[in-house]
Amino acid sequence: MYVCICNAITESDINNAVKDGANCMHHLETKLGVSNQCGSCRCDAASCLDRALEKEMGSVDLVTF
Ligand code: FES
Repeated sequence: MYVCICNAITESDINNAVKDGANCMHHLETKLGVSNQCGSCRCDAASCLDRALEKEMGSVDLVTF
């Protein structure tokens, strides 16, 4: 599903950016160009970012020393 129509950015693109280290809207803006034109996708992109970060944090293996 497209999140940012202006730049043809999908939720999958955001998920992949998070897997590559993006962890804030600034990163999505610089890596993908999210929200850099009309800006109407900003809230949806932030929601996708939150979901992707929660998913990534859930997949992190905890290391005990
Ligand atoms: S929909 Fe993302 S900048 Fe326009």
